[in-house]
Amino acid sequence: MSLSFAEEVRKGLSSKPKFLSSKYFYNEKGDEIFQEIMKMPEYYLTRSEYEVFTMHKEAILNLFGGGGKPFQLIEFGAGDGFKTKVLLKHFLKRNARFKYYPIDISGNVLEELSADLKKNFPTLGVKPLNNEYFKALDKLDHSGAMRKAVLFLGSNIGNFLHDQAVSFLCQLAKKLSHEDYVMVGFDLKKDPEAILNAYDDPYGITKAFNLNLLKRINDELGGNFDTTNFKHWPIYNPLTGATKSFLVSTKSQEVFIESLQQNFSFKAWEAIDMEISQKYDLDTIKSLGAEAGLEVAKEFFDCKHYFVNTVFKRI
Ligand code: AVJ
Repeated sequence: MSLSFAEEVRKGLSSKPKFLSSKYFYNEKGDEIFQEIMKMPEYYLTRSEYEVFTMHKEAILNLFGGGGKPFQLIEFGAGDGFKTKVLLKHFLKRNARFKYYPIDISGNVLEELSADLKKNFPTLGVKPLNNEYFKALDKLDHSGAMRKAVLFLGSNIGNFLHDQAVSFLCQLAKKLSHEDYVMVGFDLKKDPEAILNAYDDPYGITKAFNLNLLKRINDELGGNFDTTNFKHWPIYNPLTGATKSFLVSTKSQEVFIESLQQNFSFKAWEAIDMEISQKYDLDTIKSLGAEAGLEVAKEFFDCKHYFVNTVFKRI
């Protein structure tokens, strides 16, 4: 069972070292800040994946629609559909037989996406599913009449630690047949400077993205974090590929959280582990898939090989 926001905050701030889960970055304000991040020239990820789709949309269609079999295009964490629309547009132009199932836990995001798709692609068959990924997947047709192509894009997998990524893919693999595909967007290892710049921007946007979680704790759980007492510290480790971000307490301080009825003490320069954004190489992607019972069927790259969209199928 998953813990509530309050209980996860209690657990994270009571641990040594302290941590908070980046999955809680995405409240309304957090969604807004992430949109700002994607507009920054330093944040290459979104544009790289967009380029992958622009360059390889025909090859992707040939794979997903291989043999003329109709398919269900299922997207985990659909968001605003900026990149997926490249594929949708192309698939429609080619008269492909498919239906689009965007899945998102945020009803708000899904409603906006549906309205946008209705307007721009009136002939597209769309069925939005406002649910957790695997619960939504269970509700789809499993007769095998249509092939499933599940999209997990944008380097969202990078927010998982290795073991979490394996169990996520394992759980997914179990729900697929041998005909189905999973496409995962991985951010690749590259010049450490380019990576660090994407997470250490000069405008303070990524810093605001992190501090927004402390504000969320204040707003939703009655916390009294003074965000000016925390310094944002992103790092990239070129050995492990982990990009991490920390909020470091600049002084000794106490924070009280009302709904937990608990005080949390911070030593001067004590850090909270906020986020991992894992960078991969192709061997690691291959072995990650293998651990989850998946093999690499195809890899699609952008021009600079900054990013890869790996298509897996069940072994
Ligand atoms: C949305 C998880 C892909 O890890 O790159 C952006 C979130 N964090 N800047 C990422 C994020 C800091 C992003 N993902």
